Amino acid sequence: MRGLPWPAKVYLVVVIGAAAALVGNIVVVPGQLAGVGEYGTLLVLALLFLVCESMPTLLNVEQFAVSVSFSAALAAVVLVGPEGAAIVGLTAVVSVRPGLPLVKRLFNGAQFAICGYASGKVYEFFGGVTGVPEVNDFEALVGPYAVAAALFVPLNIVLTLTMVRLASTERAERMPARGMAQFLLSYFGYATFGLLVAGLWATVASISAVLVLLPLFIARWAFGQYHAQQRSYDATIAALCQAVETKDYYTRGHCTRVSLASTMIAQEIGMGAERLRAIRYAGMLHDVGKLGVPTKVLQKDGPLTEEEFAAIQLHPMRGLEIVRGIDFLDEAFAGIMHHHERHDGRGYPMGLAGDEIPEFARVIAVADAFDSMTSDRSYRGARPVEVAVAELHKGAGSQFDPEMVAAFVRALEREPWQPPRKASPPPSDETETTTKDHDDPTMPIEVVGGS
Ligand SMILES: [Fe+2]
Repeated sequence: MRGLPWPAKVYLVVVIGAAAALVGNIVVVPGQLAGVGEYGTLLVLALLFLVCESMPTLLNVEQFAVSVSFSAALAAVVLVGPEGAAIVGLTAVVSVRPGLPLVKRLFNGAQFAICGYASGKVYEFFGGVTGVPEVNDFEALVGPYAVAAALFVPLNIVLTLTMVRLASTERAERMPARGMAQFLLSYFGYATFGLLVAGLWATVASISAVLVLLPLFIARWAFGQYHAQQRSYDATIAALCQAVETKDYYTRGHCTRVSLASTMIAQEIGMGAERLRAIRYAGMLHDVGKLGVPTKVLQKDGPLTEEEFAAIQLHPMRGLEIVRGIDFLDEAFAGIMHHHERHDGRGYPMGLAGDEIPEFARVIAVADAFDSMTSDRSYRGARPVEVAVAELHKGAGSQFDPEMVAAFVRALEREPWQPPRKASPPPSDETETTTKDHDDPTMPIEVVGGS
């Protein structure tokens, strides 16, 4: 709490104070707990809420965690009324989340207690009857429950986001509209499960929670596994990129930028989510085959012999050999293997032309050349974006697929390119720098006795 800005401290005290007054009033004032009904139900719901709150899961929106506890909190609104829902929400304070600071625990408990109580009051106001519903009563509680959920979810988000905004010293990043829609949809989805728990309580009592929430937990576990797998894929790719970039001081960040530019083109031509992920990986790894090219060839000053140029031309094949065993790369293989093919068939390693060149490779070729031109090299400074775009236009139809060049230009108009910062000179003479960049279309590699 010490490091919080003062508005955040004030807000924290207000929210926690309000919840303390609310729960204190419920516990101390006689008769307030009468509406709660059986304490056994309250206890089961509190335990259920606690278990759910102890296992938050990441939604596919960065840095936001969602837990199934919403379902339990809203089931409490129906089964034990506003007072009971407030007590259930308060148990978030003791959730099993190692490392969660006390202040955050208190805030979580307080805001859940407030949301539970407010939703419970709204539920009653709209005619909802507190207690275990009979099968015949189920229809009558759907309307009031929907209103209660419609209040609980936004109130919870507003209370939490206000805290996040006030606590952040940096300008908070705005959640994209699509992300917010996905976020709200998930919350409302969890709210529906709360209705099922309440509805089934009359038939199978507390087992209803297990029946309804067990599939949710399994889904949550599977989702967590998927995220862990994605993170390990990303780490693998990043490590390989790092290995390539240590071969040359001036190409630091090249893999990441080619990946970004490739993704921009891929989005522009309408690739789906799976292919977007694959092309992101392909962009990162397109030059991984440089690991198989002798460093002295990459760093040679002056024209290359035919053998040396042949070694450079082999890097797409070498790249494929290096990553062939990584099966999640899938279509990325084609991008790595063919990123130096030319639209007119004069590229390498296979001399494919036009549509014979895999789509991934046609995308990466444009992104690769563009980043090379807009980055510093040992033999020249970075070209401005406009100059690089003009070069792409010049090469459209000969070196590059015109469709991909046009798509990239459209993407750049929508999302301006951030060129890398100017590279300072290498820190020492021993730092490895490539003398000629094989990706640079404005300065082709000279070959002695070659074409
Ligand atoms: Fe390359």
